[in-house]
Amino acid sequence: MKFTISSAAALLSLASSALAAQQSRPFYLVAVSHFAAINNTAFVACHEGAAIEGFCVGQKIPKTKAEAATYRLNNTKQNPDEGLLSYQLVGNKFKVWEPMSLSHDVATNVAIPLFMPSDEGQQVGFDEHGLMYMKTYINDMVNPPHAVKPKKLYRWYTCTTLYSSYEYHTLAWVTGKSPPEVS
Ligand SMILES: *[C@@H]1O[C@H](CO)[C@@H](O)[C@H](O)[C@H]1NC(C)=O
Ligand SMILES: *[C@@H]1O[C@H](CO)[C@@H](O)[C@H](O)[C@H]1NC(C)=O
Repeated sequence: MKFTISSAAALLSLASSALAAQQSRPFYLVAVSHFAAINNTAFVACHEGAAIEGFCVGQKIPKTKAEAATYRLNNTKQNPDEGLLSYQLVGNKFKVWEPMSLSHDVATNVAIPLFMPSDEGQQVGFDEHGLMYMKTYINDMVNPPHAVKPKKLYRWYTCTTLYSSYEYHTLAWVTGKSPPEVS
């Protein structure tokens, strides 16, 4: 995967609140960024392969609300704020709910969030400010590594990403504490 950073530090906010039950109500994902051009843009779904959709940086809200992709959280009554981020891909003769997972390439610390048909995905959560996080349960920066109280991480960026020949400006997740690697 080759990429350059065109902007950084995109946090995500939930535009409407999640309900209990199996799946939340639909919501937009909106970037909260230090970069004015990215701030308040809503993500849109973009084609990354057969039945694979990515998170492309879209236009500013509220201008393009109708065009922004809507997502739902597959959650539980007990824990409405955490679960699988899901997108419904509508094709010619099918509709399929796709959970988000992360595509990792060994060469980089930048992982690409993608929706693909699967029963499994990457757990995410939304905090009291509506910001999307992922949780870690370990500290491996000490020897020996040990389990820690669940810690929320917000390592979202937007980057020019390349996945199966599709180059877009997309959401990205950076693994580890360092910024996205560039050559
Ligand atoms: C981002 O948008 C919020 C309002 O939604 C605003 O308060 C903030 O100043 C903006 N930041 C930048 C860098 O544009
Ligand atoms: C998410 O919820 C929808 C609606 O209940 C369901 O059809 C879909 O299979 C769920 N996805 C996963 C990965 O559990």
